[in-house]
Amino acid sequence: MDRIFFSVNGVGVNVGSEVSSTTTLLVFLRDHLGLRGTKYMCLEGGCGACMVSVIKYPGASVEAVNSCLVSVTSCQGWEITTIEKLGNRLTGYHPLQTTLAENNGSQCGYCSPGFVMSMYSSLQNRKLTMLEIEKSLGSNICRCTGYRPILDAFKNFASDAPKPDLPDIEDLKICKKNGEECNKDKCDESDWCFVSDDEVMAYRCIPLCDGRLWYIVQDISDIFNILREKGDGSYMLVAGNTAKGVYPRDEYPRILIDISRLRSLKGCILDQNLVVGAGNTLTETMQILNNVSNQQYFGYLKIIVEHMELIAHIPVRNIGTIAGNLMIKHNHPEFSSDIFLLLNSVGAQIIIVTSPVHSKTVSMEGFLKENMRGKIILNVMFPPLNNQYKLVTKKIMPRAQNAHAMVNAGFLYKLSPDNKVQDCRIVYGGLSPTFSRATKTEKFLKNRKLFVNETLSEAIKVLSNEMVVTEDPPNPSVAYRRQLAIALFYKCLLYLCPPAILNPRYVSGATDLKQNRGVSKGRQEYVSDPSLYPLNEPIQKVDALIQCAGEASYTEDLPCLPHEVYAAFALTTVPLGTIKSIDASYALKYPGVIAFLTAKDIPGTNSFTPAGSRFYETNEELLCSGEVKYFNQPFGIIVAKTQHIANVAVKLVSITYYTNDKLPVIDVKLAKKDPNRVTLFRSTDATNPGNDVATKIKGNHTIRGQYHFCLETLVCVSRPSEEGLSTYPASQWMDGVQWSISRLLNINKNRIDVKIRRLGGTFGIKISRSNQIALACSLVAYKLNRPCRFIQSLRTNMRAVGKRLSCNTDFEIAVNNQGVIQFINEDMYEDDGYITNEPLIQFAADSHSNCYDKSKWNLKAYNVVTDTPSNTWCRSPGSLEAIAMAETFMERITYALSLDPIDVRLTNISPEIKNDVIEMVNIIKEKSMYTKRKAEIEKFNAENRWKKQGKGVALMQWLVTGVSTLDVNLSVYHGDGTVAIAHGGIELGQAINTKAVQICAYFLKIPIDKVQIKANDTTINPNGFITGGSTASQSVGLGVQRCCEMLLKNLEPIRAKMDNPTWQELILEAFNAGVDLQTHSHVNDNDAINYSVLGCTVAQVTVDVLTGQWEFDQVDLIEDVGQSVSPRMDIGQIEGAFTMGVGYHTIEELVYDKATGENLTDRTWNYKVPQARDIARDSRIYLRKKPMGPNLYLGAKATGEPATCMAVAVPFAIREAFTSARQESGIPSTEWYQIDGPYTVENICMAAATDVNDFKFY
Ligand SMILES: Cc1cc2nc3c(=O)[nH]c(=O)nc-3n(C[C@H](O)[C@H](O)[C@H](O)COP(=O)(O)OP(=O)(O)OC[C@H]3O[C@@H](n4cnc5c(N)ncnc54)[C@H](O)[C@@H]3O)c2cc1C
Ligand code: FES
Ligand code: FES
Repeated sequence: MDRIFFSVNGVGVNVGSEVSSTTTLLVFLRDHLGLRGTKYMCLEGGCGACMVSVIKYPGASVEAVNSCLVSVTSCQGWEITTIEKLGNRLTGYHPLQTTLAENNGSQCGYCSPGFVMSMYSSLQNRKLTMLEIEKSLGSNICRCTGYRPILDAFKNFASDAPKPDLPDIEDLKICKKNGEECNKDKCDESDWCFVSDDEVMAYRCIPLCDGRLWYIVQDISDIFNILREKGDGSYMLVAGNTAKGVYPRDEYPRILIDISRLRSLKGCILDQNLVVGAGNTLTETMQILNNVSNQQYFGYLKIIVEHMELIAHIPVRNIGTIAGNLMIKHNHPEFSSDIFLLLNSVGAQIIIVTSPVHSKTVSMEGFLKENMRGKIILNVMFPPLNNQYKLVTKKIMPRAQNAHAMVNAGFLYKLSPDNKVQDCRIVYGGLSPTFSRATKTEKFLKNRKLFVNETLSEAIKVLSNEMVVTEDPPNPSVAYRRQLAIALFYKCLLYLCPPAILNPRYVSGATDLKQNRGVSKGRQEYVSDPSLYPLNEPIQKVDALIQCAGEASYTEDLPCLPHEVYAAFALTTVPLGTIKSIDASYALKYPGVIAFLTAKDIPGTNSFTPAGSRFYETNEELLCSGEVKYFNQPFGIIVAKTQHIANVAVKLVSITYYTNDKLPVIDVKLAKKDPNRVTLFRSTDATNPGNDVATKIKGNHTIRGQYHFCLETLVCVSRPSEEGLSTYPASQWMDGVQWSISRLLNINKNRIDVKIRRLGGTFGIKISRSNQIALACSLVAYKLNRPCRFIQSLRTNMRAVGKRLSCNTDFEIAVNNQGVIQFINEDMYEDDGYITNEPLIQFAADSHSNCYDKSKWNLKAYNVVTDTPSNTWCRSPGSLEAIAMAETFMERITYALSLDPIDVRLTNISPEIKNDVIEMVNIIKEKSMYTKRKAEIEKFNAENRWKKQGKGVALMQWLVTGVSTLDVNLSVYHGDGTVAIAHGGIELGQAINTKAVQICAYFLKIPIDKVQIKANDTTINPNGFITGGSTASQSVGLGVQRCCEMLLKNLEPIRAKMDNPTWQELILEAFNAGVDLQTHSHVNDNDAINYSVLGCTVAQVTVDVLTGQWEFDQVDLIEDVGQSVSPRMDIGQIEGAFTMGVGYHTIEELVYDKATGENLTDRTWNYKVPQARDIARDSRIYLRKKPMGPNLYLGAKATGEPATCMAVAVPFAIREAFTSARQESGIPSTEWYQIDGPYTVENICMAAATDVNDFKFY
């Protein structure tokens, strides 16, 4: 029987019929080899958590690859390196791991192995500059850090970095033969390869365990033979297999033909044309084009290469091929393929092999019409173009990197010396499945002088008339894409227009902001007091190194047990209605499916929220028992042999409904009009309204939801135990999980053990929403008496689970001529989703006036229900919305009265905090050179028509209320005096363990490496409250302090008898004297101290008026963190929180089908969060020097959430920029343009109100 041979970390492995067509390299590494250092989240090439390093054949370069995209059977001959081999506790850590850890580039750590492997792979082949390093990380997402520390860490390895003592990464290659550090001197070439060339190329067929046949072919004729023999009814040529990252694939066809090694599809020939093998990966193609671009007539290839750098990211380009990309376009004409666009723009052609002896050449448009069944794309042919031809291409994306084009365009002009158009090609992608070439415009332009205003305006008219743009949600609106298409046409001409013709004010339209972005930099300023160390010491996160090495364990890293099963939710397919029938018989017949459970199988209460508990008024159904509340509500659980099978089989469960004709209400703006959906939560009146009213500003503002996007999705492992159940949920609330399981299964809480080591990020989703997965998982384990694992897919997470509350306000602001608020009437509506359960509106109502004078405020805060999943905690819930609203009111006053935004804010500041705020504002004004930059921005905007700059300001007063109730147990071991702490907080990236270690070491006066934090469980920490609201760190700190004080008190009599003993001597003596070396403390509501965190931020941006793209130039942010326990950890929290807020206000957009309420943005493909090149190019964070926070918490203040709220400064900066553009269109700055939801590139472009009649050269 044929098998596939490859090596992992220097050890030979092989696979054959025991794997299926859906066994990815990721699954093989984690589940078959037990290498769980490689993480995953999206399973579609969009997050980078699953990165490994590969050498595909002898002599090939080292490449990063998304292991989630690669079928394990594609790995023939590969040499694969995983994070485990790169460095570990036994052999020592790799400098990339130590440097990332030292730079605080790992918070929750779930993304860290992926980042390390990406960087490692890139650095193996050649030295990179700092800029190249930044660009290379487009493959990876980190939701915690805000990227700055990751970039700082890796830039140490750049060729142009001021190098400290780091070893040259080139010298740290791992030997491909034995996996040890490379010593090339001892090897000859033949030693390098684990698998011989012959083995790589041999023809073979492997029958896979799911009935598919996997072929590896040597020659194109083999493909035809296979298809002739087996039929072409169900087959797929597998090249890079990345297309499934674009259009997800549940199942593969019957015949799979691996063509990734076919030599006839590789390489290139340069005759008259450049003929490139269609099986070249995008990376290989870029190398070829780069090389050939030095040849006469092929200089234009440089432009193609530059554009290709914007396709996907390096690891996808390392395996994805030209032909694969073109075939996606062929099969899905709406796909805005950059490859198709580029080839079409230059008039390339494709050679298709139609039979063993025939081939044909087709144009790009001809290719789309070709029936490709049984045919193979052999080559693409690039034509020679002399220097009369000018090529410009464009791609507009929602963020800087790794996003498909909203619209892309290519323009090729053949110009005579007097700039007459002799020939041209105008090509678009992303407009509609049918429209790609603007042939009428091309025809119109022929023989006309190009850089003439009249030609331009007439051409735009022709283009507007011939363009076909169709709705394609969740892609941007038709109106925006039309505007963009014309703007790109103009932008390209501005780029080509001779400077002598061009009005200097229009030059700014020619360049691309993102492509011209340089290297980013960051500065963090804080003072720490060495006399207090290790308290207040800026140390490295205690778990950082094991996180960067993939040694830190998360829920899904628990090894699988025999008989373990997997579970997934079946989801409703209507938004409203009543379930009539459920039929799982078809699903149960699917191979590998074991069981199906519904609400009827629940022995106890069908709820995952413990009604009557502190934060939960009511029950939320675990499984819909009848009345459907929202689209994609879970109603059943499929249990299967693998997670993949479970995920596929849930779609086979059929369900019918008694439906009504009611449309779901998914928008809070609509819902608030229905009195049945609205409940007043709080009404407060202004206690000191004024009557000097010169201006009244009325308005309405909405901000929308946000998906948490933690890298570890919702996941749980439950195992039957001798008492009942052991459950390992990814949860911020052990007690909530234990309690809910006990209600669900009707068993005592003391028979349920909940255990948690750490979380791979959460941002609030794992407070209560993780209960749903934990309960479903436990139900299965209990009913089947088998261990169960429930790894909720990203798509189900995004569809079935609630998010940040969207919020709407109606307001009226009355001010005098100086902008002093006389009164504000604010009606605030918080969207709870289908049920009002979590008390998040309280945080909104408490924070509604932010740092401004509350006595002027009339507030009515309402809960609103919509037909969407129950919304939930999300970093700074309630307060983020409230502060954003208050800051928006300040902007409204600023614009209405044409005042300075800082002056308006300080005029209305709350008297109690006035001095503190003024002090911080003054620092920020000075540090950011506010006044100077204001003048510079004005000058820039006066000089440029198509780029505009703006700065935005936000002030913040963030209220900290309550504590996290929890226990702390501190144990000291008499053998060596080391300390172990088990505390009730959950480590989720916020460095709660690091702070606990520092506090313990400080009080006991021992080195921090003597203190170890242990995992949590409900036996040591019963009844613990949630880790959330930024309060758990201070609760744990307080608990640790009390344990230490108690221990020291116990030790005191022994110490008194000794002569200045060492810690170890003291402990041993105490032990011998029978002193209890374990102490315990309990922190509860009686320890609550309410206080506030103040902050001020100034952000500056540049906006491309023509496209709506923007660049984040600079941020200066100051936050009052009191006397930080661990300043670098707090800086990390602030940077991460701020970046998450920037994403919320600018990039992250949830799009729903209005008719059904279906969430259309449920993947990394269509829901974008910020990446490394989206953060501020110059980021400055300052921790306020004084005053202290509450003494009880050692003077420290909370830092996990507040900075999220100051990100609202960024949309304000964008607004200032587009307001300047609007003024050029004749709209006064005092006229407010309302944007609901994020300031996406679409919203920015539309706000700029650009009139195409203004598109001119001179
Ligand atoms: C995260 C991510 C981001 C991306 N971003 C972009 C982007 O910004 N812009 C963009 O344009 N694309 C983007 N892509 C698409 C990417 O370029 C393609 O997935 C890739 O090029 C497909 O090549 P492949 O070899 O992996 O194809 P495969 O997945 O192996 O195959 C795809 C299809 O092509 C067929 N096929 C493959 N080779 C041949 C051949 N020689 N002859 C005939 N049929 C063949 C296969 O049978 C299959 O039907 C992105 C993809 C991912 C995963
Ligand atoms: S899991 Fe592979 S890229 Fe996200
Ligand atoms: S540290 Fe990057 S996702 Fe948490």
